[in-house]
Order: sequence, then structure tokens, then C-alpha cells
Amino acid sequence: MAEYSVLMEKEGRIHVIEVTDATVKHKGLGVINTAALLDGMSIGDEVLVGQKYLTIMPSNLPELISGMARRAQTISSKDAGFFISKLGIGVGDTVLEAGLGSGGLSLHLAKVLGNSGCLVTTEPRDEHAEVGLLNLERAEDCFEEFPKHIHLEGLVEDVVPDMEFDAIILDMPVHAPAITACSPNLKFGGRIACYAPTTSQLESCWKACEESGLTVEWAGELMERQWGLTSKGGMRPVNGPFGHTAFLIVAQRR
Ligand SMILES: C[S@@+](CC[C@H](N)C(=O)[O-])C[C@H]1O[C@@H](n2cnc3c(N)ncnc32)[C@H](O)[C@@H]1O
Repeated sequence: MAEYSVLMEKEGRIHVIEVTDATVKHKGLGVINTAALLDGMSIGDEVLVGQKYLTIMPSNLPELISGMARRAQTISSKDAGFFISKLGIGVGDTVLEAGLGSGGLSLHLAKVLGNSGCLVTTEPRDEHAEVGLLNLERAEDCFEEFPKHIHLEGLVEDVVPDMEFDAIILDMPVHAPAITACSPNLKFGGRIACYAPTTSQLESCWKACEESGLTVEWAGELMERQWGLTSKGGMRPVNGPFGHTAFLIVAQRR
């Protein structure tokens, strides 16, 4: 398995690099032999790459998220944290997640499942799976514990495995067929959650959950507003968009 390290620029930009004894191009850093660069160095040390001083950082979840490879839109910590708490996901659970996309949510799930957990992901698009699986490979090397990971190619409704799940999370453009197909695999008391960018998607998730015999527990959205210090003293919300991510819905098998 490949080895990875996290480097941070002075301004905070994060690079997750493969440590390899080959002189190759690393995006944003140039051509380097990372094994030679990092030989004898520890977390907290500074290394010079071209004109840039970079600090070797611990490979924690926020660093891996910040430096992750990206393609499909990812679920951020605001919504991922809510899903994990509201679905009660923790050590030893078996979780189904679709679609994998860039693996943003998968990184959060992998962090909390521990060695005894199991994460099943599905993804129909190879170009998305490639990015998501790379991010999970990095996490497997960097996290102290990592769940068993099963990845299935295809639409979740076509490939849902013959397993029981403590939790299911669906992030895709059309949820209803997936809810119908996956719900029978939810354990009694287990929960399913959907990430739905529009209100029409949310409504169709609600109806599909009820038609599948699930009880909707919560639906809505989470607001996040960042604050900062002002130049004249005091604090206020920072300038910038006050954006929408998605509507979330949680339903339980009772
Ligand atoms: C927005 S991305 C998921 C991003 C992911 N949650 C993350 O945090 O990085 C949605 C993904 O769902 C995939 N997809 C679409 N329909 C699907 C289905 N029925 N089953 C599984 N995956 C599906 C798409 O190919 C896409 O990669």
C-alpha cells in the first residue's frame, strides 16, 4: 500500500503527497523525490520545495479533506457531522453509502467506523470512483484505524448487496429507486439519510421513505455562518456567500 504525507504552505494550503522514491511531478509543488525530501523529517518540521517552505502536518481528517482529490461535489463537515450523529454511526457499524463520488462523506465515515466497522460504497461512474477510491486509499494509510471497505461498481439500486446495514446514506440526483431498493436491507431501528440539493428531491425522498415503510424523523437544512475578527476590533460574520448545500432527511425502520 502507498504511503502518504501531509504538507502545508504558509498560507494554509494543504498538499497530500505520496511518499515515493521516484522523482515525479506533484500537483502544485513541481518535480520532487518525496522520499528523499522527507527522509529523517518529523511532523512539525519545515521542508523547502522550490521557493516554498512547507510544514509537515499530522494526517488528520481536516487535512485529508482540505487536500483531497476532487471531482464530484462533496458533502462538507457541516452535513457529514450531522449525518453521523443523527444516524448514530460509530465503531463497528456497517454502513452503505451511495454514490461514492469524490469520497468526501466516505472519509468522515471511515474515521468513525474503526477497524471493526464496514463501509460499503457504490458508484456507477469510473471517473468519479477513481477519485473517491484514491481519497480512501490515502485515509487508510493515514488513519490509525480503518474499516473494512467494499466498493461496488454500478447504481446502488442494481448492486445493493445481500447484507444488513446499521445506516444508509444516499447522495445522488434521483433517490427514490435507491430508497426502494436499499430499505429492506436496513436493520430494525437502523436509519437512512438522503442528501437532496432541491426541495423537489427532498419531497420525493420523503414519499419514497414512507412508501418503503420507514418513519421520517427529521427533514430540513443546516445553516452555517462563519465569524471573524474585524480590523477595528470586535467580531462579525465574515463577508462571503451564505450558501445552501442541501436538504437532509432522516428516516428510521421501526
Ligand atoms: C454528488 S456525488 C457524491 C459525492 C459524495 N457524497 C462526496 O461527499 O464526495 C453523487 C454521485 O452519485 C453517483 N450516482 C448517481 N446515481 C447513483 C445511483 N443510483 N447509485 C449510486 N451512485 C449514483 C454519481 O455518479 C456521483 O458520483
